[in-house]
Amino acid sequence: MTEIIAIDGPASVGKSTLAKKISNYYEVPLLNSGRLYRAVALKIINKKININNKYKILQCAKSLTGENIKSENLFSSKIDKIASEISSKKYLRKQLMAYQREFPKKYAKGKKFAVIEGRDIGTEIFPHAKIKIFMWADAKVRAKRRHLQIKKKGQKTSLKRIYDEIVARDMNDLNRKIAPLRPAVNSVLLDTSYLDIEQAFNAIKRIFS
Ligand code: DC
Repeated sequence: MTEIIAIDGPASVGKSTLAKKISNYYEVPLLNSGRLYRAVALKIINKKININNKYKILQCAKSLTGENIKSENLFSSKIDKIASEISSKKYLRKQLMAYQREFPKKYAKGKKFAVIEGRDIGTEIFPHAKIKIFMWADAKVRAKRRHLQIKKKGQKTSLKRIYDEIVARDMNDLNRKIAPLRPAVNSVLLDTSYLDIEQAFNAIKRIFS
């Protein structure tokens, strides 16, 4: 049977990097669930849909394709903001829950693991997952890392703006009524404030062995 590796944590904590490493190492499928919210946000922007139009937003979610989810255009400040905003809508979370629960059945047949990262994977989507990792790092540390990443790409950026955006997204993730960001009771807490990605990955491998 495929075991779910659920990785949750706040924005810019390194979830997707760690999840990718685990997925490559064990040669198992990976779902970055944030991409679902981002892909819906991109459709909302492109189709100029009102943020309160439940019917149209649901249509966007129901019609998501693999291509939409893999799009390279899912990462911008505007999408960060809209994705964060729509993530507190109950009807949208319910619709996207179905997609996430289907993922291992569709893509991980015969595989030892399926890696899924997000905010509520260990608490809501796969509460029975055996392996749950909750990543954390101070918001200032996360902002500095993100700032460096963007600078390395040669893009213009501001540490203050990134920090403010991370804090705003944390507020949304931690305080929304539905599926707020919380460590599942049986999760392993991995504070990466003082760990780089290799050290984090080594710590995880030890848990698996
Ligand atoms: O992980 P990310 O930054 O790509 O996620 C984008 C947005 O989607 C973020 O604002 C939080 C939200 N999200 C969520 O509410 N639940 C998830 N399982 C994944 C992401």
